[in-house]
Amino acid sequence: MSQSLQALDRAHHLHPFTDFKALGEEGSRIIEHAEGVYIFDAAGNRILDGMAGLWCVNLGYGREELVTAAAEQMRRLPYYNNFFKTTHPPAVKLAEKLCALAPAHLNHIFFTGSGSEANDTVLRMVRRYWTLKGKPQKHWVIGRENGYHGSTVAGMSLGGMAPMHEQGGPCVPGITHVRQPYWFDEGRPEGQDPEAFGRECAAAIEARILELGEENVAAFIAEPVQGAGGAIIPPASYWPAVKAVLAKYDILLVIDEVICGFGRLGEWFGSAHFDLAPDLVPIAKGLSSGYLPIGGVLVGDRVADTLVEEGGEFFHGFTYSGHPVCAAVALKNLQLMEAEGVVERVRDELGPYLASRWTTLADHPLVGEARTLGLMGALELIDPVSGERFDKALAAGTLCRDISFRRGQVMRSVGDTMIIAPPLVITREQIDDLVTLAREALDETARCLAPRLADEPQPEERPA
Ligand SMILES: Cc1ncc(COP(=O)(O)O)c(C=O)c1O
Repeated sequence: MSQSLQALDRAHHLHPFTDFKALGEEGSRIIEHAEGVYIFDAAGNRILDGMAGLWCVNLGYGREELVTAAAEQMRRLPYYNNFFKTTHPPAVKLAEKLCALAPAHLNHIFFTGSGSEANDTVLRMVRRYWTLKGKPQKHWVIGRENGYHGSTVAGMSLGGMAPMHEQGGPCVPGITHVRQPYWFDEGRPEGQDPEAFGRECAAAIEARILELGEENVAAFIAEPVQGAGGAIIPPASYWPAVKAVLAKYDILLVIDEVICGFGRLGEWFGSAHFDLAPDLVPIAKGLSSGYLPIGGVLVGDRVADTLVEEGGEFFHGFTYSGHPVCAAVALKNLQLMEAEGVVERVRDELGPYLASRWTTLADHPLVGEARTLGLMGALELIDPVSGERFDKALAAGTLCRDISFRRGQVMRSVGDTMIIAPPLVITREQIDDLVTLAREALDETARCLAPRLADEPQPEERPA
């Protein structure tokens, strides 16, 4: 059965972010069902989902309340749109709930079907806002290298993923990228103090604003912690310095909470952790715990007032904006998270516990840094011989990821950075298992790499 599914998959299915040919040769893994923090493959193997699907299954798998919410809403009103002066109860109630949970100045939501669509909406809103303010030339958006804001053309352009730009270009004009606050990769090799490095990265934004002319810059967009880029937690100095720069030049702040929102960092919104007051907040993923696709943009009063009072018709929207079934599930998801104190538990108990356990991996010879924030964590893999990054050709991160999966745990690799972001309902015992499984995957990775490392010239033997 699973072999015939694999064959059909190979024959007809083009997977996202996948080397189609290589996957065709290897065959895809078939995930059949899931429960709690575990997924089960077609062979019956139980795998701890250290990535909550794609950073989204915050409440864990198998929540009957969400299934019931979907079924009831499907029976009552499976679809209607929010165009042309109509609405429906799930969209209205979800909008109210989101604005109640969000910081006080965020009182409106524009619904989308995904995080990428949310970021397309951001670009449209930012430019519309400044045009309405009589400053249409203020259209440049500054993003960050290695930032991720989705895979539609605008999402890809706002993000700073070079391989995506190379394939998808030319990007949307009027978007530029500055350096990311990735101390391990960019500050540490230079021997910089992390806090000085953080300030330097913020200064790069100011330099770019001055280069473009402050009168031309509309917004800065960033994730509170870069997710897809490698769970990159900025030095403490970074965000206060960025905030000061944007305030100085009257530039909108867009904080992409698609990953960090809904409890991942131990707050409803990641921006609360860093004390940011964003003007626009794209959201998705954890909003419905991934049970159904839904996203949106929370809009701060400053922008909303202008769009509402001065904007006239906003020519933008999607067939599935505020889809009633997705909205009903998202609302139930937020209600359950609230009733069960999921976010507070991440902040007060599980986040600190993960930090205490995950950082023990720093003593492993393959680990150059082990970091966490909330229920997000990363390991930086290094060559134990040189203490530097592995030769890229060894694909150490991919090797470790595949070993980990085979041994019963999903860890994602971004280059040679291993990432975890488990469901927020994980228990302490399951965190212990997660760390043990991660160590075992590292051990096996080290064993696999050892013969290849022995072939490498040692540092003192390297040609000058
Ligand atoms: C920060 C961030 N923004 C936007 C997106 C795009 O979301 P989607 O895949 O739902 O379009 C992602 C997806 O991983 C993300 O991590």
